Amino acid sequence: VDTKIALTGFGNVGQGLATLLHQHGEEYRHRYGTRILLTSVSDRRGAAIDAAGLDLPRLLAAKSQTGSVGGYGVESGESDPDAFLARSQASLLVEASTTNFDDGEPGWTYVREAIVRGLDVVLASKGALALHWKDLFERARERASRVLFSATVASPLPSLDLASYSLIGTDIRSLEGILNGTSHQILTAMSRGLSYDEGVRQAQEMGIAETDPTLDVDGWDAAAKAAILANAIFDTELTVHDVRRQGIRGVTVDDLQAASAAGETIKLIARVARTDSDVEASVAPERRSIDDALGRLSGDAMGVVFTVEPLGTMAATIEFGGHGGGITTAMTVLRDVLKLARSRSAFPPR
Ligand SMILES: NC(=O)c1ccc[n+]([C@@H]2O[C@H](COP(=O)([O-])OP(=O)(O)OC[C@H]3O[C@@H](n4cnc5c(N)ncnc54)[C@H](OP(=O)(O)O)[C@@H]3O)[C@@H](O)[C@H]2O)c1
Repeated sequence: VDTKIALTGFGNVGQGLATLLHQHGEEYRHRYGTRILLTSVSDRRGAAIDAAGLDLPRLLAAKSQTGSVGGYGVESGESDPDAFLARSQASLLVEASTTNFDDGEPGWTYVREAIVRGLDVVLASKGALALHWKDLFERARERASRVLFSATVASPLPSLDLASYSLIGTDIRSLEGILNGTSHQILTAMSRGLSYDEGVRQAQEMGIAETDPTLDVDGWDAAAKAAILANAIFDTELTVHDVRRQGIRGVTVDDLQAASAAGETIKLIARVARTDSDVEASVAPERRSIDDALGRLSGDAMGVVFTVEPLGTMAATIEFGGHGGGITTAMTVLRDVLKLARSRSAFPPR
């Protein structure tokens, strides 16, 4: 069985996915019973389409040599979303383009077109989910299209998998997490004596922070993740604008030193809590004991802690060991792709 994928966005995540499929595609076919083919890829300037499956080394070379997947060959083209999806013959869209929290584009348009065509959708970009949750899932239900989005919530932490499989049947009261890598890296650098500006520069040199890290340091990225987790786990319809949000710009080296003198540190914590009548989500810097599950995490790590009745707390953490965001996020995208593909193939669905 073939699983044909249309991929929008060919940056760190998109190229990471192509690299993983090139390196491990055969292995996945044996292990999961499906051959995964990229049949169309678009970026800002063009598209490459071949319903028989794009040649992945050639695609990666075209991007690095010409700056666009449009350089793939004579039969590339078609940036109109509808025609792009039609010609790919894909059963699944992977959305990995640049996003924003004003209108969620261009991902929102790609996702709507895919759902109209009955495709399943795997999202890496957060905009459509953090702004249009209700609309998106109403459309998906109408067309029986399945939508997975593990990569949008601090991938590859298994936050959603824990909530929907390991904690099934329990009463999840709240979750809190370190969900934004850039802010976390900057605070870790500041706790070692660097200034805020030096911390930002260091995170940029490490390839973690963008040239304009506003979405990270002002808490937008963590707030989007909190909204998406709240919606998925507590069945709410929050947008990123419903999340109380405070970023890390106000945190000083003095604050961190004062915390340190008391055996504490400061972390940017995203929190979602269910009250008797409501679900509340927030993002803010918090003093934490250096011994607790989140307080002890250093710059190269992320974590989430669930408070659950009648179990107690359950935590998942990841230390990246130097692996870059593009490839680890692509791995998480692939996890969703394989879940969807496996449930359509000879393997029993989960
Ligand atoms: N990197 C991570 O670790 C990570 C983790 C979780 C989620 N995400 C999310 O995943 C998405 C991709 O991340 P990334 O790191 O791969 O970003 P990136 O390196 O900036 O790549 C973004 C890609 O989107 C393309 N793009 C922009 N507008 C487009 C359009 N209208 N149609 C098609 N493609 C378009 C860009 O094209 P050009 O190449 O032509 O500029 C680029 O290839 C983002 O939304 C990000 O927030 C990333």
